[in-house]
Amino acid sequence: MWLSRRTHMRIVHVVGARPNLMKLAPVYRAIASFPGIEQVVVHTGQHYDFNMSDVFFRQLGTGAPDINLQVGSASHAKQTAEVMMRFETVVLERRPELVLVYGDVNSTVAAALVCAKLGVPVGHVEAGLRSFDRSMPEELNRLVTDQLADFLFTPSEDGDRNLEREGIPKRKIHLVGNVMIDTLIRMLPACESHLPSDVPSRFALVTLHRPSNVDDLAWLKGLLHTLENISSDLTILFPVHPRTKQRMNDIGLNGASSRLRLMEPQPYLAFLALQQRAAVVITDSGGIQEETTYLQIPCLTVRENTERPITVDMGTNILVGRDSERMRSEVEMILAGHRKAGQVPRLWDGHAAERIAQIVAKL
Ligand code: UD1
Repeated sequence: MWLSRRTHMRIVHVVGARPNLMKLAPVYRAIASFPGIEQVVVHTGQHYDFNMSDVFFRQLGTGAPDINLQVGSASHAKQTAEVMMRFETVVLERRPELVLVYGDVNSTVAAALVCAKLGVPVGHVEAGLRSFDRSMPEELNRLVTDQLADFLFTPSEDGDRNLEREGIPKRKIHLVGNVMIDTLIRMLPACESHLPSDVPSRFALVTLHRPSNVDDLAWLKGLLHTLENISSDLTILFPVHPRTKQRMNDIGLNGASSRLRLMEPQPYLAFLALQQRAAVVITDSGGIQEETTYLQIPCLTVRENTERPITVDMGTNILVGRDSERMRSEVEMILAGHRKAGQVPRLWDGHAAERIAQIVAKL
């Protein structure tokens, strides 16, 4: 009888920041269904607050990470360098056959660079997204990671086109669909019981954390003022990211009122329950643009561009940019019942991670 071609393979997954955790969960689970593959989860510690990290591991059922590099917060160069130094030791000790990195955060590019220099194959989950805005740290992370990766797993056709334009050989590109939507589909039935108490029947849900919105303090002040105005028509629930909280403290604004309610960052299931019920979501997050498109909830994105154009072309997303008037008028339209209709993109079907696992299991 033939022995299987490889009886043992070690895959190391690298995650660091909140949005990575929803992407890791389905891929880890799908690979676990193949025998002979050992999986090691490395958390870089880029995010470390309980409600930015641990609660997600608990809710998503991934178990605690095997290794935590505890790099914490620092400047981009220092944080990236710390991940590189600490992760290099892990790769040398564990000698994986493949390292999987996720999304576009500093931990992603740092790990990819370490592997490329050590000659260890890298797979990039959520490859090919481009905002074409190099002032965004994430865009630099995406560009470099995709150049270094050996397997590029894309969520939609626009990702394939971007990669081909950048000279990535077609054989490296695998259109698999959206792993974040895998998690959403799996967790949706469980989220209703996690809805925070005291949620009004109609509300807007707001998240803001991009440097372009929260590090420009004059703009942030204006943005909070606009939200306050909107809240006279519609209660706003605003889970505040730690970066945003710091900036709001810096300018002595906590922005809170009875109709503009500030909250701690929400666990995955509570946030999903809130999204599902929101009249409109106002955000600068990448993942939330995708989740609202899947849920068919109107989304106003406070950015001039998006690396996820499919959510605008096909989904419920509208880019309002840095235009407070536009934001206000779009909210009015939505409240008057004029919502943008959307469709769910192809392969956002709950099975993207299985397609990734099929590919890596054959290595
Ligand atoms: C990072 C990612 C961003 C992603 C976001 C999701 C990069 C370049 N940015 O941005 O793409 O959308 O995560 O949240 O990788 N902090 C805490 N507790 C934490 C983590 C951070 O208090 O657990 C504070 C720190 O003071 C830190 C600041 O938040 O300086 C920003 O954290 P950082 O990881 O540098 O970037 P994010 O803004 O979270």
